[in-house]
Amino acid sequence: MRWMWLTVLVVSIAAAEDRPRLEPLAGSPAHPAGNLGTVEKIKLGEMLFFETLLSGGNRRSCSTCHKPAMLFMDGLSRAWGLHDMELRRKTPGLLNVGWQRSLFSDGRAKTLEEQASKPLENHLEMDIDPEEAAEKIRRDPAYAQLFEKVFPGEAITFDLIAKAIAAYERTLVSYDSDLDRYLLGDETALKPEAVRGMKLFEGKAGCIRCHHGPLLTDHQFHYTGVPEISGGTPDGTKHKTQSLRDAYRRSSYMHNGHFLKLRHVIEHYERGGSAPAGIPTEIEPLELSEEDKSDLVAFLLALNGRTTTTTTDPPGSSDISNAPPPKTAEGPAQDPAYLKRPR
Ligand code: HEC
Ligand code: HEC
Repeated sequence: MRWMWLTVLVVSIAAAEDRPRLEPLAGSPAHPAGNLGTVEKIKLGEMLFFETLLSGGNRRSCSTCHKPAMLFMDGLSRAWGLHDMELRRKTPGLLNVGWQRSLFSDGRAKTLEEQASKPLENHLEMDIDPEEAAEKIRRDPAYAQLFEKVFPGEAITFDLIAKAIAAYERTLVSYDSDLDRYLLGDETALKPEAVRGMKLFEGKAGCIRCHHGPLLTDHQFHYTGVPEISGGTPDGTKHKTQSLRDAYRRSSYMHNGHFLKLRHVIEHYERGGSAPAGIPTEIEPLELSEEDKSDLVAFLLALNGRTTTTTTDPPGSSDISNAPPPKTAEGPAQDPAYLKRPR
């Protein structure tokens, strides 16, 4: 008989370990063996991140959309493209991006090195052939010197540019939130409403099923009934579960920036999404009281990192031509003050 109890015990311990749970985050993502992150490479990657030579007509850089002062977002509902037009996706923040297991809402890039050429090739983003961009960098004597130091003896190709940018992106982190402190043993770190929100998140509201681990994501793709905008992906498309770290500080939510407030995201889950009839979603409607919703927001607020990389934009880079217009009343403001906006 005794062996039976032992089996039960072993099985239940294994089940407890498999159960999705919240975990603290610290440190920084590992640099891969093929692209070690030396100090000089990271510095070069940072310069290239702000470099307008990497775009058609030298009009924009990665930082035009991923603004360091806005936690590498842009303060808009959706990204602002070339030719003065709104794109169909929001600009995701890049903090903790080195820990992501795939990139973009459909996971089409697997590594940061692979991702870096995509915005250049996109005619609505940076609009330049990556090798033509590499040629412009090659012609710049200052860059030639820097590359020679970081990649001695190698010709400057876009692959090297991508490596340097990726090394820089792996230094962008955000942690030491109230939740991290709580999970590391400081029981006073979470306010009572945030603790109630956490219990809902892990319990009745079922958020933990997809948002768990140190980044609060399962790194998978799900259809949660987010309304698609016209010309966007078809209804029923699965999107990457987003990390919820610093969620409170974002200016819009979901792949297409459909919601502007966390409360609206929670109400979306409460109704079980807004999928058109006949398209099944992976979430069920929830019963949440007004207090439950405020508690969930309080929990999400406790995910704001204190340790965040916020290098400031170098002078002049914020007024690159073709910058988006200031947002009107219905959208978030362009001013970093939006970070403090009540939700
Ligand atoms: C026009 C604005 C714009 C520019 C310029 C831009 N991005 Fe992005 N970036 C976006 C948008 C929008 C997405 C989301 C696209 C998607 O999910 O399909 C994105 C996604 C990303 C992602 C994936 C993040 C994730 O969590 O999956 C990374 C990494 C990234 N960009 C880095 C860069 C780099 C590096 C550059 C410069 C070489 C750059 N971006 C230039 C708007 C921009
Ligand atoms: C079935 C898996 C699943 C469950 C359960 C789930 N989510 Fe999500 N969540 C996702 C996916 C997938 C996305 C990205 C959707 C998109 O980009 O359109 C997302 C996005 C979000 C976002 C937006 C992040 C951003 O910056 O755009 C928030 C906030 C969020 N979820 C909170 C919650 C909360 C709170 C709950 C519980 C009430 C919950 N989620 C339950 C899968 C899930």
